[in-house]
Amino acid sequence: MSGTPDDGRPEESLKESYSQLPYETRARRKTHPDTLATLATIFGLSAPPIARARILEIGCGPGENLLAIASALPGASCVGIDFSAPQIAQANALAESIAAKNVRFICCDFNTLEGSLEPFDYVIVHGVLSWIPPDRQNELIATCSQCLGPGGLLFLSYNTLPGWHQRQVVRDFLLRETTDIAGVGAKVRQARESLSSLAARVGSMDWTYGRIIQDECDNVAKLGDSYLAHDLLETFNSAFYFTDILRRTEEHDLHYVAEAAFEVMVPDTYPQAIADSLKTATNLEQREQDLDFLINRSFRESVFVKTLRPAAQPDQRALTKLLVASSLQRLPDRANNPGPAVFRSPGGTEISVEPGAAQIALDGLATHYPEPRSLEEIVGSIQQAKQAALKPNEIVALINTLFAAFSRGLISLHSARPPIHAHAGSRPMASALARNQCVGGTRVTTMLLDNIDLDDSDCRAILRLLDGRRDLPAMVRALPPVPAVDSMARVTTALAKLARAGLIADLPRE
Ligand SMILES: C[S@@+](CC[C@H](N)C(=O)[O-])C[C@H]1O[C@@H](n2cnc3c(N)ncnc32)[C@H](O)[C@@H]1O
Repeated sequence: MSGTPDDGRPEESLKESYSQLPYETRARRKTHPDTLATLATIFGLSAPPIARARILEIGCGPGENLLAIASALPGASCVGIDFSAPQIAQANALAESIAAKNVRFICCDFNTLEGSLEPFDYVIVHGVLSWIPPDRQNELIATCSQCLGPGGLLFLSYNTLPGWHQRQVVRDFLLRETTDIAGVGAKVRQARESLSSLAARVGSMDWTYGRIIQDECDNVAKLGDSYLAHDLLETFNSAFYFTDILRRTEEHDLHYVAEAAFEVMVPDTYPQAIADSLKTATNLEQREQDLDFLINRSFRESVFVKTLRPAAQPDQRALTKLLVASSLQRLPDRANNPGPAVFRSPGGTEISVEPGAAQIALDGLATHYPEPRSLEEIVGSIQQAKQAALKPNEIVALINTLFAAFSRGLISLHSARPPIHAHAGSRPMASALARNQCVGGTRVTTMLLDNIDLDDSDCRAILRLLDGRRDLPAMVRALPPVPAVDSMARVTTALAKLARAGLIADLPRE
């Protein structure tokens, strides 16, 4: 921890600071109970079903993440708590404006939770553990444990050592530069000036330290005001070694399952020399800790399970219990090629896939995207295409290919069907949250909790109309006409884009 409490009541000033400048909370797919349940399944656990789950978010800030989860899981019951009254007021205002019925926001300190609420299936704590006084960190972990029933899953993120050492240099500098300045806004303005001055000074010579600090200054300068204020300028900010976190969580009957982004645990994600060196680690804990030193990791998003013991290794046979979604597209110039086909992700990563079941599977999944399919459905459609039954070894090869693509972060797995449609249908619907977001800006949250920049004005205009009551002609009538442009074509093009993005919801009509 760096910096000293401003007065005898450091948490009061922390609360005040969030009141002056609320945190810009947004939805995060990695916190989605579906992500947690999927990982638990891969590590041999049977996760609480997400459709009717009881979900708690501690330190929910203005609530957008929890509201996105509540929108995507209409049968779940969600509770968000935060000790900052203005942020909870903001969360309640958003909940009211989108008529969210399955979420409750409570203004309280997390220390009042014990025994006051029912046990939860999922607890989400994003961006809190590192941001509170050190003497309250174990209390927070204990609270998470107390709020979970056996088998319940915890998402916990925290700044990580050794990577945070670098940012700590910049943070220490900024704390000194802003120490006598009153008010969060004024501190942020001074911090931005100090950052550019530090970057210019250390960068005036060609040396390793200068490059490292300049890089860090550039990254910090890109942060929005609320992140700069609360991540860099608050009195409290701790970073932990992974093994230290494991020791603390184990004390409270919470056992490490995996990182929320599974691919970051996979040795082959890293350069060959690192991947090879990790293979000598004797257990998961040692391998993950080694990895942090090798890649200088500064942040972790970890998943824990209460009481139960996850398997030490992922089991790809879990795919038989999960659903698969893929947006990988076969490169057109390779179609009808008898050899391996190349499939490309929206991010531009390519994989080569041998002819046979996996190629047919990926082609089929692409047409259904973003709807996922069970392995049974995938195998069924391959058999239909081939007019022959798949042999057991072909099914094993198919599972290998799909799991390898998942391990590279190229396809997604789900524990349950998300309420989305791959095609708009006759009276399409979007979540009230997405419809609300696109009125004031271009960032919208999909049903899978991704945030996308919807810069197409037709898409935004159509998205606003998707309350499940309008058919296509009604949308054409509601769209401001553009001379010489076919309005029906505009509507169908926009709907296709919205469906592909995961914005067409399969929800009960409001
Ligand atoms: C860095 S923000 C993270 C907000 C949100 N979870 C996110 O990641 O976008 C930390 C949040 O924890 C809340 N918080 C800090 N100490 C708390 C406490 N003792 N009880 C409840 N909430 C607390 C703050 O008000 C703030 O909203």
